[in-house]
Amino acid sequence: METYFLDWLELVLRWLHVITGIAWIGASFYFVWLDNSLEEPPRWKIDNGVKGELWAVHGGGIYEVGKYRLGPAKLPETLHWFKWEAYSTWLSGMVLMVLIFYVGADTYLIDPRIAELSRIEAIVFGISFIVGGWLLYELLCSTAIVTNGPAIALCLTFSAAVASWALTSLFSGRGAFIHLGAMIGTIMAGNVFRVIIPSQRALVAAIEAGKELDPAWGAKAKLRSTHNNYFTLPILFIMVSNHYPMTYAHTHNWLILLALIMISAFARHFFNLRHRGIFRPSILVTSVIATSALAWVLMPVRAIPETKPANSISDVEVTALISKHCVACHAAQPSHPAFTSAPGGIALETIAQIKRWSTQIRAVAVDTEDMPMVNSTNMTADERQALGQWIEKTAKR
Ligand code: HEC
Repeated sequence: METYFLDWLELVLRWLHVITGIAWIGASFYFVWLDNSLEEPPRWKIDNGVKGELWAVHGGGIYEVGKYRLGPAKLPETLHWFKWEAYSTWLSGMVLMVLIFYVGADTYLIDPRIAELSRIEAIVFGISFIVGGWLLYELLCSTAIVTNGPAIALCLTFSAAVASWALTSLFSGRGAFIHLGAMIGTIMAGNVFRVIIPSQRALVAAIEAGKELDPAWGAKAKLRSTHNNYFTLPILFIMVSNHYPMTYAHTHNWLILLALIMISAFARHFFNLRHRGIFRPSILVTSVIATSALAWVLMPVRAIPETKPANSISDVEVTALISKHCVACHAAQPSHPAFTSAPGGIALETIAQIKRWSTQIRAVAVDTEDMPMVNSTNMTADERQALGQWIEKTAKR
């Protein structure tokens, strides 16, 4: 019963996380696009301190937007702020992390094939990465490197490589990917909380007090906001990656994670340039080619020899094998305490069900070793091979 309500809590939180995430990333896309698309305003607007204007049509109406070089002489009564999208995305994400990966550490985070961590160790490592990543980023941003775009991109990529390698040497593939996502998300929310909002507060307070406006506030906030914009596509990939074991359950998962982060941040660059009127399709083409090349390199080799172990196992033996390694979770009524229904809607209790799901079974238990989850039942290489052979011969017919 308890697990059942936890499932609902998880559903509601995940829902909330996606909704607030859309609002946050949507605002990031919109405002970066807006900034890059501003055009020279007419003289009278420039004289009022406006630096750029933009006209748009949406939802049946025409909009006229202007951006001030520093700020208006007097503040309007209503000024809209954008911060709760960021905070609520981060908060719901962290609660989900605790609920799924820390409460369920034995199922989702700790993989004894990778590192035999205790629950406490795993959680302490996880939190240290999230906090440590943020501190390191802040440290980097306090140096002169921050003003040099390519240099900061290089430093961040290098840090992501180290983090990706370290995380995948400690945690299950899923756990490692999600932790890198949480590190990036924390940096992004931190940028909003520590830099963007305080700079805007300073700007607004100065306008109210009729003081001289310092362009440095805006510039600092703008830079962090641009960083956040480049983080959006990588973090979105990480959010959906948990459905794709060919990425996180691969032996070289840390390199795959790094490659997809680089490819997606690069793709974002195409859009940011395009909004500024620079059309460079080679960037997008490179991203597509790189993704295709990655998919090609990762293609599973299906060299399942005919002979070993004793070449064909019977349907009865396969049912026994699946029963031993999968059915605790993959049953209409799982005996595993973490589940109240078959995960992914996949029950594997009868030979008919096993045959029906055989392609998926091969993907997760033979091509990658993603299932059983963190190899909780110690499925051996021979057993995987026998299962692969059986699928090759029997289930496909
Ligand atoms: C400890 C519980 C557990 C065990 C044991 C387990 N699984 Fe799973 N399995 C899961 C969970 C949880 C998911 C859903 C993962 C998700 O949400 O992406 C899943 C998903 C799957 C999927 C769907 C994957 C996808 O990409 O949609 C397949 C196929 C699968 N398991 C096969 C197996 C096979 C075959 C075994 C035994 C060799 C096995 N599982 C053992 C928990 C388990």
